[in-house]
Amino acid sequence: MARVSNLRWLPLLLLSALCLFSNATPLATRQPMCTDFTIPVTIHAQNQDLSVVTAPTFNITVDGTFNIFARYCEPQVNLPYHGDILQFLVHGLTYTNKYWTADGWDRNSWVSWASVSGYPTLAIDCLGSGNSSHPDPNLVVQMQAQVETLHRILTLIRSTNSPLPRRYNKIIYAGHSYGSLLGNALVTKYPTDVNVLVLTGYSSSLVTSINATLLPAQITNPSKFGSLPPEYLQFADKEGFRDTFYHVNDYSEDIFELDYSLQGTMATGEVATITQGLVVASGFTGPVYVVTGKYDTLFCNSGGAVDCGTNTAGFLPNTRQLFPAANPFDVAVLDNAGHCWLMHYAGIIGVVKVMGWLTTVGY
Ligand SMILES: *[C@@H]1O[C@H](CO)[C@@H](O)[C@H](O)[C@H]1NC(C)=O
Ligand SMILES: *[C@@H]1O[C@H](CO)[C@@H](O)[C@H](O)[C@H]1NC(C)=O
Ligand SMILES: *[C@@H]1O[C@H](CO)[C@@H](O)[C@H](O)[C@H]1NC(C)=O
Repeated sequence: MARVSNLRWLPLLLLSALCLFSNATPLATRQPMCTDFTIPVTIHAQNQDLSVVTAPTFNITVDGTFNIFARYCEPQVNLPYHGDILQFLVHGLTYTNKYWTADGWDRNSWVSWASVSGYPTLAIDCLGSGNSSHPDPNLVVQMQAQVETLHRILTLIRSTNSPLPRRYNKIIYAGHSYGSLLGNALVTKYPTDVNVLVLTGYSSSLVTSINATLLPAQITNPSKFGSLPPEYLQFADKEGFRDTFYHVNDYSEDIFELDYSLQGTMATGEVATITQGLVVASGFTGPVYVVTGKYDTLFCNSGGAVDCGTNTAGFLPNTRQLFPAANPFDVAVLDNAGHCWLMHYAGIIGVVKVMGWLTTVGY
């Protein structure tokens, strides 16, 4: 029973055990134990001069100290062989760390499933999002500054100065959308910062326009974002948010409303440098798993025709070109889901797939 490769159904077994013995064990009602941290990071980054249109020119020097907000959760199930493994969770644009918990909505909570599967999680708010610092949204909040920020945090949590209660040596990076692009950019520059990449809502093909209206968040939500510079944007229309992130009939309206009510921001510098997360990460040799909804309007869109294809042909297998040395490189097209698949009915299927895959690659 102790062989890691035999444990892929462990979460389901645990769940059935919890149901059978719920009178005898308090586990069924236990939640992951979460603590919030603010981690100061000092970075040096070479950002892009976005006013130069001829060729990307990385001559904007950023030297700064920023606060990064993170929520750390100890799992309710402790597995000794997971002792030094941490899932590091990075959200997409207009989201925060709450993407991974749906603010407590258990069925769509990645963190709850990780917890049941025995994984601790650290879900950050990216630079310029949520409770993290909001520096200049055009000059500072760009892909390279995000990469340096993650590099500092990951170095810290592997060190003896880690703010977390344990030191972690094996880091599973799970990203969604922009978080996945950032994962690609991170391992391109720092191939050994993380051991495993799980890239959700991602492929090597990203569309450049969406059918939605984006406006300064200070205008769309003045009570929450009134103090932000106008280059922090968000969706101004609920239907645009819906069309971009959701696939019709495959989700509950309640979770959609909750998700929209939690909407955060995106910085113009993030949008302008987004393709820096679609590069060939030839130095990364760890396992990579790309998991994307079949109807992802952003990453599986061929001139308006949206279809991710299959696990063997189409957008996801093509993404291997970005990770030529990954071992293994695996993909999963999730049926009945759009871009934010975690928020769909299929979310649970996707998360269970990811936890199972992790055990098959030895984590
Ligand atoms: C960056 O380099 C470009 C091309 O050499 C130049 O036009 C631009 O003024 C430089 N920007 C800064 C901030 O130095
Ligand atoms: C930011 O911090 C406040 C106060 O602790 C908290 O209520 C809020 O949920 C946090 N936001 C996020 C995105 O975690
Ligand atoms: C774009 O969004 C508008 C407003 O929600 C909708 O009426 C229209 O059908 C959408 N167009 C496409 C191509 O999806």
